[in-house]
Amino acid sequence: MNPVIKIGMLGMGNIGTGVVKVLSSNGSDIEEKVGRRIQLESILVRDIKKKRAVDVSHLLTTDPADILENPEIDIVVEVMGTIDTAFEYILRAFENKKAVVTANKDLVAVHGKKLFEAAEENGVDFFFEGSVAGGIPIIRPLKECLCGNRINGVMGIINGTTNYILTAMSHGGKEFAEALEEAQRLGYAEPDPTADIEGLDAARKIAILASIAFNSRITYPDVYVEGITKITSYDIQYAEELGYRVKLLGIAKGTEEEVEVRVHPVLIPSSHPLASVYNEFNAIFVEGDAVGETMFYGKGAGELPTASAVVGDIISAARNIQNGTPGRIGCTCFKNKRIKHISEVESKFYIRISVSDRPGVLASIAGVFGNSSVSLASVIQKRLEGDLAEVVLITHKVREANLRDALAIIEGLSVVAEVGSVIRVEGSEE
Ligand code: NDP
Ligand code: HSE
Repeated sequence: MNPVIKIGMLGMGNIGTGVVKVLSSNGSDIEEKVGRRIQLESILVRDIKKKRAVDVSHLLTTDPADILENPEIDIVVEVMGTIDTAFEYILRAFENKKAVVTANKDLVAVHGKKLFEAAEENGVDFFFEGSVAGGIPIIRPLKECLCGNRINGVMGIINGTTNYILTAMSHGGKEFAEALEEAQRLGYAEPDPTADIEGLDAARKIAILASIAFNSRITYPDVYVEGITKITSYDIQYAEELGYRVKLLGIAKGTEEEVEVRVHPVLIPSSHPLASVYNEFNAIFVEGDAVGETMFYGKGAGELPTASAVVGDIISAARNIQNGTPGRIGCTCFKNKRIKHISEVESKFYIRISVSDRPGVLASIAGVFGNSSVSLASVIQKRLEGDLAEVVLITHKVREANLRDALAIIEGLSVVAEVGSVIRVEGSEE
């Protein structure tokens, strides 16, 4: 048996750098834990001349075959991003009987099934803990520690950029554009923040979590998505006055037959554990039939937090190689559940409407809601602007289709200037 387990890494950016640092600073303990030394053998990059934060120049290559076709390499770590290229390289790694560790949610949320099948065919491991919520352990806990439970729901703040922006809007009284600019200046938001602020990054992550929690394959296009670009400081202020905070959540709920999977802003009671997760932090709230409520909290991105998850996966793959047990935990999507359309989902809603400040206006709006079986829990009149009054309504739980029917009629009423915001309320019963 080779005295070392050799790693080939695809990519040496933020996360690759973190992996090099963690393997080097904790290497001797890792060797004790695995029973064999883990050695970084080769690293694929695009530009071999680029200055790197750590000196790995002797390991760099631009030829993927140096890793994928190298019989010495046992584990391939994919931290380069992309969908098509990473997919091709990982399949080649599996064909050559190498275990694969990735942090690539874009890839797993689309091609998870094919990747699992290829890993199983070749009798090797496929791990992706870093793909959801960076350093927070959530994939292995769902697959192992909580696997005796029937999971009822998974709900999480799984995008740090949007949580940072919403925190800045709430604590700093900023409007969305200003908060986004601050997040970009501080390096939380990408120069092109679309995937974060439109909810797409969170949608990929909740697709991965929902597949594991409900044992049924859910891919990125199955997720209903709304981002946070329409949230105003008024909504945040009114939500807080009503005892709620505004958060962007990934939500998955399931039964034996069906699953609903969505990403959108929510009002969540300020007493809910997720309401106190601020700035760039992530948290995932899981409800199982045996464990009850449990929450996982920490840093959802960044060099070292994500490297923590990636190195944990490397160690798991290495232990399986050492013990002759690769492929011990493969794909757990053994069911084929129906995915609920958003129109069938039941939620409570917060609705902000600008109306003419005249007698009878509220009665006409309430009448339309009543005709569509939308029951109102509270109605509050907020600020006045000219001859317009702003009204905030909270509904009881209602089927989304009924709410949308009512809103379509309300938008056409002559006394209604604008339906400003429609935000679902989560985390409170009735
Ligand atoms: P970076 O852009 O910082 O690094 C990407 C690295 O991959 C670079 O070293 C680049 O080479 C190399 N690379 C990219 N494309 C190719 C290619 N076609 N051929 C060869 N090398 C290539 O990305 P990150 O480290 O930030 O992210 C890596 C992965 O981790 C992504 O999938 C991301 O979604 C995921 N992730 C990132 C998190 C974060 O906080 N950044 C958190 C959780 C997951 P070169 O250096 O020469 O340009
Ligand atoms: N852009 C992501 C976030 C981190 O803001 O949480 C990478 O998944």
